[in-house]
Amino acid sequence: MAYVDAMARPDETTAFYNPLDPGYVADPFPHLSEMRDLAPVQQTLAGPWALFRYDDVFRLLRDPALSVDDVNADLSVSQRAVMYEEVFGDDMLRPDTSILNTDPPDHTRLRRLISKVFTPRAIEALRPMIQRLVDDALDQMAADGTTNVVDRLAFPLPFDVISEMMGMPDSDRDQIRDWSEALVKTLDPILTEEDIRAAHRASVAMDAHITEVIEWKRSSPGDDLMTRLIEAEEDGDRLSAEELRDQVVVLFVAGHETTVNLVGTGIYELLRHPDQLRLWRDDPSISPNAIEELLRFVAPVQFSRRIATSDLDYGGQTIGKGSFVLAGLASANRDESHWGPTANQLDLTRESAGSHLSFGNGIHYCLGASLAKLEGRIAIGSFIERFPHAKVVGEPVWNGRINLRGLQELMVDVDGSG
Ligand code: HEM
Repeated sequence: MAYVDAMARPDETTAFYNPLDPGYVADPFPHLSEMRDLAPVQQTLAGPWALFRYDDVFRLLRDPALSVDDVNADLSVSQRAVMYEEVFGDDMLRPDTSILNTDPPDHTRLRRLISKVFTPRAIEALRPMIQRLVDDALDQMAADGTTNVVDRLAFPLPFDVISEMMGMPDSDRDQIRDWSEALVKTLDPILTEEDIRAAHRASVAMDAHITEVIEWKRSSPGDDLMTRLIEAEEDGDRLSAEELRDQVVVLFVAGHETTVNLVGTGIYELLRHPDQLRLWRDDPSISPNAIEELLRFVAPVQFSRRIATSDLDYGGQTIGKGSFVLAGLASANRDESHWGPTANQLDLTRESAGSHLSFGNGIHYCLGASLAKLEGRIAIGSFIERFPHAKVVGEPVWNGRINLRGLQELMVDVDGSG
């Protein structure tokens, strides 16, 4: 519990990052703005350093000398490591070999393999499938009248798209959703012991499930991403069995736990900014830029993290070798020194919108960026075209996550008649 207690005990004289403030998840941006002004480079009370300004975040993400592999972390300064040790003792979690947590040269090898499947042509070929899934969801919503946009559209769409791409069997969606939810909670900068235990249980269950699915796929290969990865594994030692399983898990989780927030929060922001909604509805050709601006504004992944492999100098402060460093993507996206005085306004015609950091930057730049943008454009564009008078009903419910911040419930009257 030491981890959470430390975050809750403010030093009144210093500005410090405190996502435990009530209301933070509903609107983190005023607090992030304060951090940019008063403590843009800081060691948080939970241990990791955090960067909040665009230029610092950009520089960190592009620095090839940094690591994402926990073996390079100095765990003696990590309160999270202390908690993991308290929970697991010697029975620590196995290392994750997914692309997201791997450094070159392994990262380069994994990225080459996976990016072969995420070509622009392959993504574009998914358009009819995505449109069909969206149209079905919109039909259900029309029949509902008043409906939860997250349950009907924002969550099932990316989940079904990645399931189809991977060639997953028709599996227990609710079960996988629960595991995945417990797993991504560990991406938050603050955890409780129960979060750690729940993530461990989910990881064991998910690993066992995916191992079974891979075995099934070996005997019934198809024209899908999992079959391609299995072929790479069988094609020599380019992918070990453990690596194969970890890539399937990470693609599956990254494929839906992020895009749900773009679609859900994106629709909410448009309904709150009717002038912007009208712009898109009246001229759908602006959708490529509009989706970049929504990505900037919403930041479905609010932080990524790196590990310093040598002492670093940011803002005149020394970040020691082995430290975890959080890259404040959402904060960078609202930094006035990069975006100018309109940084906190939603402007679907903003010229430089595409320079947001929502997909990260550098060698770990999101592999699913084109897919996520295509899903977002089709889902949001079709929603506003079909329901031009939709209105939010009551207050939306946030998912309580600091990193993968998004909506859990967004009730909307699709006819706007209520
Ligand atoms: C709006 C939706 C999405 C957002 C905001 C997002 C965000 C991100 C970010 C910030 C990173 C970099 C993490 C880092 O710097 O450490 C990343 C990496 C990654 N994303 Fe996404 N993502 C989205 C959708 C997707 C989808 C749909 C897929 C796959 C189907 C995907 C697959 C990946 C993979 C495999 C990586 C790891 C790349 C690497 O380590 O080289 N993402 N994503």
